[in-house]
Amino acid sequence: MSSSQVGSPSVGAEAPASKAAQTPEARPVVVQTIDLAKRYKHGRIAVAALDGVSITIAKGEIIGIVGPSGSGKTTLLNLIGGLDRPSNGRVIVDGVDLGTLDEGKLADYRLKKIGFIFQFYNLMSTLTAIENVELPMGFANVPKAERGERAEELLKTVGLELRMDHMPDELSGGEQQRVAVARALSNSPSVILGDEPTGDLDSKSAKALMDLIWALRREKKVTFVLVTHDPIVVARCDRVYSIRDGKVLREIIPKTENAKRLSEEESLMMDTLY
Ligand SMILES: Nc1ncnc2c1ncn2[C@@H]1O[C@H](COP(=O)(O)OP(=O)(O)O)[C@@H](O)[C@H]1O
Ligand SMILES: [Mg+2]
Repeated sequence: MSSSQVGSPSVGAEAPASKAAQTPEARPVVVQTIDLAKRYKHGRIAVAALDGVSITIAKGEIIGIVGPSGSGKTTLLNLIGGLDRPSNGRVIVDGVDLGTLDEGKLADYRLKKIGFIFQFYNLMSTLTAIENVELPMGFANVPKAERGERAEELLKTVGLELRMDHMPDELSGGEQQRVAVARALSNSPSVILGDEPTGDLDSKSAKALMDLIWALRREKKVTFVLVTHDPIVVARCDRVYSIRDGKVLREIIPKTENAKRLSEEESLMMDTLY
């Protein structure tokens, strides 16, 4: 039932009742964290990497996560991505509480529901662009012929139809990151998680990557959660969570009064703490 509402901007009272969680604007919720906490023990000292984070992300949103080094950004991303388990609290993605999944099901979740992109692309250096994109489909047992076809289509989507048989070291940083985006899309995930995805890119490539992310949101309704300290990324997020000491300090909506009011402190943070 809820799938009929996918992408629908319509709000309100007439929206059909659905068991799937929705935001107040009646958009389906894709990611929800409830009182999420992660503690690490350093000898006898426990460090709270994450300390009670509750956030809700709707389908098709582009969300930024900013904060100083050590504030818990990567920990949050890893918990949403099922790479790690929380000490406390819950992560719910597409209505599934990750805490209920055993290791095998969690691996399946990472493979099929989540796409990952990283600062340094993390492509397999011995495989061509198209082979890199096919790889996660192989793990998901997609038949060989279908893999090739889909990888080709995805590389076209990211504008690399002329680079399919290139090795990663024959591609620019911006091109490698676009291969990584195509790879992240290969098993049609609900959410793409990026940890500093523009951290190694020049500003022109960073802008091009954000153009691509916007196009993917529009055309495929993919949801993005991007850890970043890049103003180019921040400016093009729908909402940004500013976190510090493992807690959400505030939520910023770029290009609004809210962001203008906060910009002095936030930009100070960008300049001095990252
Ligand atoms: N695997 C780990 N073992 C121990 N401490 C960790 C581990 N991962 C992160 N931490 C600690 O948790 C805090 C948050 O780390 P992290 O999420 O990586 O921050 P950020 O990505 O914002 O820089 C830091 O104090 C870090 O040292
Ligand atoms: Mg980090």
